[in-house]
Amino acid sequence: MARLEQLALTNFRCFEHLNWALAPGFNAVLGANAAGKTAIVEALWLLATGRSFRTARLNQVIRHQQNQAVVFAQVEGHRLGWSRTLQATTLRLDGQSVDTQAQLSKKLPLQLLTPESHRLLEEGPRLRRQYLDWGGFYHFSDFMAHWRPWRRALKQRNQALRLGQPLQAVQVWDGVLIQHGAALDVLRRAYLEEILPPLQRFVGALLPEVTASLSVHYRSGWRQGLTLAEALQESAPRDREQRTTTVGPHRADVRFRFDGVDAEVALSRGQQKLFVCALLLAQAKAFQQRHGRPVVMLIDDLPAELDADHRAHLLALLAEQGIQHVVTATDAALLPGVEQANTLQL
Ligand SMILES: Nc1ncnc2c1ncn2[C@@H]1O[C@H](COP(=O)(O)OP(=O)(O)OP(=O)(O)O)[C@@H](O)[C@H]1O
Ligand SMILES: [Mg+2]
Repeated sequence: MARLEQLALTNFRCFEHLNWALAPGFNAVLGANAAGKTAIVEALWLLATGRSFRTARLNQVIRHQQNQAVVFAQVEGHRLGWSRTLQATTLRLDGQSVDTQAQLSKKLPLQLLTPESHRLLEEGPRLRRQYLDWGGFYHFSDFMAHWRPWRRALKQRNQALRLGQPLQAVQVWDGVLIQHGAALDVLRRAYLEEILPPLQRFVGALLPEVTASLSVHYRSGWRQGLTLAEALQESAPRDREQRTTTVGPHRADVRFRFDGVDAEVALSRGQQKLFVCALLLAQAKAFQQRHGRPVVMLIDDLPAELDADHRAHLLALLAEQGIQHVVTATDAALLPGVEQANTLQL
């Protein structure tokens, strides 16, 4: 059965109204430049994560001259709604208002590959932490029970540091920070260990030409060999000087190397895109094993940077994994097997 069954947009970007019924496997969105392909991917991502990958100013998604954008999707019989007025965002699940994005996210596990996905490898650690935490969120039922109090303690501690408050007002947060921060670190490590074997397999399938061996390097966000408590103790003078918490899970990172060379150096742009795709597929596999159902994968502008062989490999792999996918392209001829897809022509 399809996970994502229906998508409806109202006054979202260039769409006044759009209604689309999706199929279980391959869904293709085709259209010329500016037809609204990325807007459709963005709408789904907003519903699933509360964030846009294009803008931090969510009002931009409201159609010009209108005052409310609405995204609606039916997912395995559940009705998910996201709407944005000029003032606020509202979330709905099965006709009821919900307070937290996590409630919608749980219903719609989405993965996203775009022509910018190489940023995961090239930029600083923020996107890589988001990658890890996507995994943690869906993989461990207690992940949020650690993440929320940890995040709150970190925020409060940083505020006390910023305001130059006495040591005691800073350290009052350390207990919660250490307890939940250390637990997050354990979960992130465990998650990485679990996805490493499928990652190796997907790299082999998508990048058969790469013979160098892949290694994964995780850093906790504090000096190796110390506990988080010891690291916080050690960093106290520096924290005070810099007016922020300088160690902890918010400084974690994970790097990927091929024969010891960083992925962003070792791989071409097209290969980087496929490697990020392998990273997503490894998460998809872990999700499927844990929950017995697949994720939905969004691939905006799949043909960008990819030659015919790699496009065919990728689409074949998605079909083989039973992953419902929504793929955009300017031209059907660039998507092998598109004859079998459920197609939305814009
Ligand atoms: N708030 C808005 N109101 C109305 N139109 C908008 C709004 N935001 C963006 N647009 C328009 O929506 C159109 C669709 O843009 P989008 O980026 O989704 O197209 P696309 O099909 O992905 O194009 P490309 O092939 O170039 O990637 C653009 O013409 C853009 O100007
Ligand atoms: Mg686009």
